[in-house]
Amino acid sequence: MNTPAATGAPPQPRSLESAFEDTIARDQRVEPRDWMPDGYRKTLIRQIAQHAHSEIIGMQPEGEWITRAPSLRRKAILFAKVQDEAGHGLYLYSAAETLGADRADLTEWLIEGRQKYSSIFNYPTRTFADVGVIGWFVDGAAICNQVPLCRSSYGPYGRAMVRVCKEESFHQRQGYELLLTMMRGTEEQRAMVQDAVDRWWWPSLMMFGPPDDNSPNSARSMAWRIKRHTNDELRQRFVDMTVPQAEKLGVTLPDPELRWNEERGHHDFGTPDWDELKRVISGDGPCNAERIARRRAAHEEGAWVREAATAHAAKQAARASEGAAA
Ligand SMILES: [Fe+2]
Ligand SMILES: [Fe+2]
Repeated sequence: MNTPAATGAPPQPRSLESAFEDTIARDQRVEPRDWMPDGYRKTLIRQIAQHAHSEIIGMQPEGEWITRAPSLRRKAILFAKVQDEAGHGLYLYSAAETLGADRADLTEWLIEGRQKYSSIFNYPTRTFADVGVIGWFVDGAAICNQVPLCRSSYGPYGRAMVRVCKEESFHQRQGYELLLTMMRGTEEQRAMVQDAVDRWWWPSLMMFGPPDDNSPNSARSMAWRIKRHTNDELRQRFVDMTVPQAEKLGVTLPDPELRWNEERGHHDFGTPDWDELKRVISGDGPCNAERIARRRAAHEEGAWVREAATAHAAKQAARASEGAAA
């Protein structure tokens, strides 16, 4: 063998860039202390921050129903679910901080509208059936998106996703179970479920982002193995997973073009309204202003907690250094 070790020559210094490329090519993890290209770091900060913001803003549409849950059991389940989403946001902000981002800045950028969150949380929750449909569709779509992210090339992001996905699976099941219960109820309850399905189906398909031929950042994220599948692949996976569940539940998905394609081995389906997605992403959805206003108010109302925590930490540090000096 003619390797440096075999010939006794000193190992050749490798450029940082090629060490990074090797790590990606071998499907190993990039860790916070490793060198990484600026573009990789920026793409990850943007993606992880956007994901964290989605978890936190995503608490609002369902959180509104906690006080109006129809039973103690439903209230406890919904409480646990919304609390999980807060936890997801916190893991993700921590993952972004390992890349040098500051959580205070990220929050500032969210409430100033400079960073985005998932378009889906800008739609209103009109009845308790929406809680079930969000669990079934929105958490179901989150699972399709996030399971491949467990193998993301950036270590802290991938590891955070493992726990997040386990919890998303509970979220999806609680939603589906709630809908099964309602479908066994009165005519009126069945109509509520169908109405919620009709309103949430298309916005859920839009959660996967624009179609592949109009998704400028996808190719680079795939090359860096931050992302593993394209938007259209994930959207297809979600449709294929959801159709048999809809049949079992006894609801109709509101798409006349939806049918099994034997040749492709997948369902064909209609085209979401991409103009609507553009409008909602650019701030003009039904609830954008309300969601941000609420987030801003919560941030301002929480200022005293952050100040107290900072003062406490400073006191502890001063005591520790006094102790060390004594
Ligand atoms: Fe979540
Ligand atoms: Fe969830």
